[in-house]
Amino acid sequence: MRRTVPPLGYGLAGLYVALSFSACSGSQSSLNPAGEQASRISGLWWFYLAVLVGVFTVVIAAMLTAVAIHWRRQEAFSPEMLPEPLNATREQQLTKVVVASVAATVVILFVLLFADFFTGRAVSSPAPKDAITINITGHQWWWSITYEDPVPSKTVSTANELHIPVGRPIMFKLHSTDVIHSFWIPNLHGKKDLIPGHPTSTWFTANQAGTYHGQCAEFCGHQHAHMGLTITAEAPEKFAAWLEGQRQSAPNPATEQQRRGQQVFLGGTCVMCHRIQGTPAMATVGPDLTHFASRHRIAAGTLPNARGWLAGWILDPQAHKPGARMPQHTFAPEELNALLDYLETLK
Ligand code: CUA
Repeated sequence: MRRTVPPLGYGLAGLYVALSFSACSGSQSSLNPAGEQASRISGLWWFYLAVLVGVFTVVIAAMLTAVAIHWRRQEAFSPEMLPEPLNATREQQLTKVVVASVAATVVILFVLLFADFFTGRAVSSPAPKDAITINITGHQWWWSITYEDPVPSKTVSTANELHIPVGRPIMFKLHSTDVIHSFWIPNLHGKKDLIPGHPTSTWFTANQAGTYHGQCAEFCGHQHAHMGLTITAEAPEKFAAWLEGQRQSAPNPATEQQRRGQQVFLGGTCVMCHRIQGTPAMATVGPDLTHFASRHRIAAGTLPNARGWLAGWILDPQAHKPGARMPQHTFAPEELNALLDYLETLK
């Protein structure tokens, strides 16, 4: 039996997609540039669009003219008419038109090639000396983020949600632990691959404050589509305050319930993958959870960071992100509640 989707179904699906995009505020578009590099790339895009729309219009106009001429001739056709004799002047005219069209095509292709070349050169200049260095490591399927500092104790580790200051160049050192991923924040720059065993780098400056969404842009396995990251570009003072906050160890649990939650965390399997600075949890297999509660989403942008979603995620990650490396867990309701209470203190 053939199943059909009623138009209403498509409408609702469209509405759902639109709402889920607007629900996570922030922009994810190369055509809404918030930095110098992205402006160059979107400029190139608009230039290509203008040239190609021009070419398309000319080609369609020529085709419609040919069709119109043909129609008119057919209307005037009578069986006793002979085919048009070969006319030397007409032949010469046609040759000129063909030669001019080929020449114009070659010139246009070279113009596009040079525009692309100069844009590529402009966006891949070396990073300025005063750039802030951030290490990004791609994992199946999340991002670990480390802010370098000459003083090792001031190094900051986090996951999936970046903060950067507006107006300051940021140099990204890109690594991968498993397969090839691609770092892409369309509002700020083009894509750059993260290749296992071969560190790469890229840099950009955000000129406008805002929240921008990025996405892994290289197919990297089952949950490639759920490998999102968020970048918040903010005033330098706000960024400095955020970074200072991230340097602090996690607060000690304040209530009996939170202490119980910490015991659940440290006594269970959580500790085998995650790190919480200031506790014995030091593993780096999964995301750093020191300031987990300050992040907006969990599972690399897949779910909102809210108690219900978090509980569902902890108990059965595979239901939300099949193939994710996090295993399923069984907790008694009382243990789970305590664990959630504890995790919510990790601001
Ligand atoms: Cu990582 Cu696609």
